[in-house]
Amino acid sequence: MRTSRPECAIVVHGGAGAGSGLNDGCIVAADAARCDLNEGGAALSAAVAAVVSMENDGRFNAGTGAALGLDGKTIEMDACVMDTQGRLGAVTLLRGVKNPVLVARQIADTPHCLIGGEGAVRFARAMGHAPYDKVSEHARQQYREMMAKLESDDAAMPGVANGDFLKFWNYADAPRFRIPSATDTVGAVVRDHDGGFAVAGSTGGSAPSLLGRVGDTPLVGCGFYAGTFGAVAATGVGEYMIRTLLAVRVYHWISEGVSVAEALARGIALFPADVPVGLIAVSATEAGACANADMPHAIVRGTAG
Ligand code: GLY
Repeated sequence: MRTSRPECAIVVHGGAGAGSGLNDGCIVAADAARCDLNEGGAALSAAVAAVVSMENDGRFNAGTGAALGLDGKTIEMDACVMDTQGRLGAVTLLRGVKNPVLVARQIADTPHCLIGGEGAVRFARAMGHAPYDKVSEHARQQYREMMAKLESDDAAMPGVANGDFLKFWNYADAPRFRIPSATDTVGAVVRDHDGGFAVAGSTGGSAPSLLGRVGDTPLVGCGFYAGTFGAVAATGVGEYMIRTLLAVRVYHWISEGVSVAEALARGIALFPADVPVGLIAVSATEAGACANADMPHAIVRGTAG
């Protein structure tokens, strides 16, 4: 007798506002997750495989493509993982590592949920992550473009005066009167054939950012959440997701029986139109993506196993 297994589903995104021109990178990432499931992996390893693919791409603001800080040289990265089994790992203010999401995955096996800064770098080195300082051409171009933006009247960060970044400047080097902006986080949510859910995410941080700024990506319930009803990942300017506990809020709507499409639309509707926001989610039966700005993404259903 054939036993039927739950249909798997994979959704990946490449950041709210990053533009649909990067959909090809999302398709490659979703395929990496699909291959992982085909090889017997569970939701968590599949979600991590998708994010590693985007971290290595160089065009997304994560891993090799991570955004440059305001000083034009510092890169501080965040990443996260969470699954139905209660595994939770996040890393923040990580420097000099190729794949922050793999560090987040390893943190999920430690006694802690979140490690940041120097301790995170030392942890990564202890886990075998070699120093890695490549800056992608995409990240350099983003930096150049936003240098021009600060000198215009456009707010580099919605709702914030450009001059605030100079007022509160905390980098070692003197400021240049230019501010970089960046496409955002990458993320993946997966439902596997056992009905398990997982989420993984990674970012070079929403730009512009002061030194040491932490966004939503490593904060559980803000940029990501997974439980027995599904998994959710958010993208956009982290300060907005943190204030609204966006990911867990959307998860709760799904847990109450709201459809994925409606839950994602409700989440996006919490924000003004000039704040780029995106969401992806899987539930027991659905998978979806929604954004108020061009968000490259890919959705794969039922093709593994
Ligand atoms: N959503 C990524 C960040 O704000 O850092």
